[in-house]
Amino acid sequence: MLKKKHKNKPTANEEMNILVTGGAGFIGSHTLIELYQAGHTAVVVDNLSNSNPESLKRVAAILRDQTPSIDIEVPFYQVDIRDRQGLERVFANHHFDACIHFAGLKAVGESVAKPWEYYENNIGGTLTLVDVMRQHGCKNIIFSSSATVYGDPAQIPITEQCPKGQCTNPYGWTKSMLEQVLTDIQSADPEWNVVLLRYFNPVGAHPSGRIGENPNGIPNNLMPYITQVAIGKRPELGVFGNDYPTPDGTGVRDYIHVVDLASGHVCALQAIERHCGLAIYNLGTGQGYSVLDMVKAFVRVNGVDVPYSIKPRRPGDIATCYSDPAKAHAELGWQARYGIDEMVRDSWNWQSQNPEGY
Ligand code: NAD
Ligand code: WQD
Repeated sequence: MLKKKHKNKPTANEEMNILVTGGAGFIGSHTLIELYQAGHTAVVVDNLSNSNPESLKRVAAILRDQTPSIDIEVPFYQVDIRDRQGLERVFANHHFDACIHFAGLKAVGESVAKPWEYYENNIGGTLTLVDVMRQHGCKNIIFSSSATVYGDPAQIPITEQCPKGQCTNPYGWTKSMLEQVLTDIQSADPEWNVVLLRYFNPVGAHPSGRIGENPNGIPNNLMPYITQVAIGKRPELGVFGNDYPTPDGTGVRDYIHVVDLASGHVCALQAIERHCGLAIYNLGTGQGYSVLDMVKAFVRVNGVDVPYSIKPRRPGDIATCYSDPAKAHAELGWQARYGIDEMVRDSWNWQSQNPEGY
């Protein structure tokens, strides 16, 4: 249990108690650290379907190291967000000012093979969560959405005004549909404050190297694939296409350090404090890097080899995707602080210190 509140960073926010669904996962665990550093407290609900409770022990250890005089343990409930009674137990024990809702399945390829499981988990789970929240008078939610809702974007850089597009997989549709569900709920009941955060491509890890991304099986995403090649778990990286209309022919994305992404959630609490109603923000750096830019930076910064070969394009991929993050800067005072060198450094720091993950 939380033994004592601490506050080691000045913040404009009121101190809030936050329900963090999916808090044992990659982005959730990093967000817990930023929340506590800003003086907030949190309770985690996670069914551990794609995470390990060790991440929460390490979050507590990082917080203890930062403020040795204070003993923090984040309350944790192993509960599925589809389990109404389980959520009721959590709400019976805590008052929440807001929910940061990370819980969901996120593997694009798996979602094509198991669409029912993705719709049921992500949409069914969110509907149950939101219903329990409103019954307990908590009508503030920050939702993990994705740049995938823009489909093949109508403009680059992508602003929040850019129309949503056709998703290429069921995972992406769950995000797009849930944005609509939450928008409609807010519009029917203006007591709700809904913040939709559209993440670009999260990479990196906490600079301590103690928490990071822990994918099951063969990684889908570029950065964990690179780190697994670098550590010798996989022989080489397949670069999916070098004939895109980009400077070097490989796909361009807006990679964002997970610590920056995490701090974006703390900043987004300001929108809730201001009773924003519905607010949508891109969380990206505004800078696009190609696959080969990422590989070259990784090799240069970390001094390790990453063999690769060019493979065919991956179905569903687009050439270029990067954000215009000006709105989050203007309205939330948020901007990414870490660059590509810190992203590749911290990804490797995590992987090399934890070759088998947690
Ligand atoms: P993650 O898999 O590490 O974290 C998600 C957590 O949710 C896991 O700990 C998992 O056990 C938990 N979970 C899943 N279904 C649940 C359920 N029914 N009940 C309770 N817990 C459940 O993923 P992440 O990278 O930390 O992503 C967090 C959120 O951000 C997800 O919603 C994801 O779709 C979204 N997102 C991620 C990325 C990315 O590239 N990582 C990009 C855009 C959006
Ligand atoms: C990045 C670039 C690949 C792997 C996905 C989801 C999106 C969001 C973030 C959750 C692309 C190339 C990759 C590899 C490669 N997730 N690549 N070899 O596709 O931009 O976005 O993750 O919400 O919804 O679609 O990220 O990391 O898979 O790919 O060449 O082994 O790296 O082709 O150009 P993507 P990614």
